[in-house]
Amino acid sequence: MARGSILVVDDSNAVRENLSELLTAEGYEVDSCADGKEALQVLQDHIYDVVLTDLSMPEVDGMAVLSYLVRHFPETSCIIITGYGTIKTAVDAMRLGAYDYLCKPVETQEILLVIERAFEHQRLWRENIRLKKQLREKFGFDNIIGTSEPMLQVFDLIRKVADTDSTVLILGESGTGKELVARAIHYHGQRQANPLIPVNCAAIPADLLESELFGHEKGAFTHAIRTRIGRFEQAHGGTIFLDEIGDMNPSLQVKILRVLQDRQFERIGGNRTIKVNIRVIAATNQDLQQLVQAGKFREDLYYRLNVIPIRMPPLRERRSDIPILVNHFIQEFSRKKKKNLRRVTPEAMRRLTDYDWPGNVRELENLMERLVILSEEEVLDVKDLPEHFQHQPAGTIWWPAEIPSGGLPLQKMLSDLERQLIIKALDQSGWVKNQAAQLLQLNRTTLVEKIKKQKITRFSKEDR
Ligand SMILES: Nc1ncnc2c1ncn2[C@@H]1O[C@H](COP(=O)(O)OP(=O)(O)OP(=O)(O)O)[C@@H](O)[C@H]1O
Ligand SMILES: [Mg+2]
Repeated sequence: MARGSILVVDDSNAVRENLSELLTAEGYEVDSCADGKEALQVLQDHIYDVVLTDLSMPEVDGMAVLSYLVRHFPETSCIIITGYGTIKTAVDAMRLGAYDYLCKPVETQEILLVIERAFEHQRLWRENIRLKKQLREKFGFDNIIGTSEPMLQVFDLIRKVADTDSTVLILGESGTGKELVARAIHYHGQRQANPLIPVNCAAIPADLLESELFGHEKGAFTHAIRTRIGRFEQAHGGTIFLDEIGDMNPSLQVKILRVLQDRQFERIGGNRTIKVNIRVIAATNQDLQQLVQAGKFREDLYYRLNVIPIRMPPLRERRSDIPILVNHFIQEFSRKKKKNLRRVTPEAMRRLTDYDWPGNVRELENLMERLVILSEEEVLDVKDLPEHFQHQPAGTIWWPAEIPSGGLPLQKMLSDLERQLIIKALDQSGWVKNQAAQLLQLNRTTLVEKIKKQKITRFSKEDR
């Protein structure tokens, strides 16, 4: 098998033939072209690992070949061959993205070495891309971690809406990652090269928000000493992210509605209508429908925003993501803060997974940061967690975050669980076995057999 494919481009027959012969003898698959024009033609339907090109050639020169490669085949390494007089151009070529350059007359050993290095570089580059892709698939979408079904659905939606220009409304409790999703949508869409302008409608005082959004003309009000461009204008060509939109006051809601409908507005104190090309993404942790019913949020604005709703599931509804997030943040903070914490024990992980996380991922992230900073250990146990993790909530069924390396007695655990549930059902139904059987979706005979087998009596108090 060939060691890799190389295209040699040189207008000197002698150089071209020598190089082709040498590289073929070394086991590479070699094609050659007599000038840049021919090279660009060949590159229409051939991909090479390495392109070796002379700099000065008539019509289409080496720089043109290089820029074509950089644009269309960034994975191809381009090596420039240059005469004594064009060394400065060779430096420019490196800046443009050439892998390396060689000066004429080219020495055999040198050229073989450079080519070998180029192949090694490519191998690492590919490996890097493969690893990054793997990581992304393993842990989620970009830097949004999650592999639970509800999160996979969110990733799917992000992919679908990113390419459109539709307005997106991201809903969810505090700390569920609404801002991360807004960013992912912008940076996966066609507007990625243009700005993403966030506006936190809750953080900016109501009387300042209007000028923040629309800008103002000089002299529009007492402190308007100079004209100011608002966020809508800054977002032109890109995306505006209206965060905490539920907190916006009604008079502003009307003005926003107009921008959403017509993509135009005036600066405060100005009478020139400004047109903008923007995508709108909004987010809130409030129940907008309820706000509409209570008369606090305009219904027409709600419908304008709610074109594509994305609901961020709270962490307690996707507990399988908790261990992945815990490990991710431990690793990240340990690396950033140069600390030793590596992991938590399975029992500690179980407590973390059982917890309801009212502050969602933000609360989990903050706790992990604190634990990493405060701990000197490599592994944390339940006792190292805050007070509210020390006590097991009543009635929770033990669910291991991972199977301990020593193994689990599956049959005994299932039998214990069965025993507990039967006793609970009997208690709840006042020992009327028909009712208890119904609660457990069993027929009566099966329940009676199980009661016998488990040796459960009315006095099996130790179990309660
Ligand atoms: N799935 C996730 N993977 C990794 N980090 C996450 C994830 N979800 C949230 N985070 C992190 O949690 C924190 C809160 O996320 P973000 O600000 O996006 O939440 P939010 O829904 O906008 O919250 P709020 O309503 O309080 O503004 C951020 O530091 C973010 O990086
Ligand atoms: Mg937010």
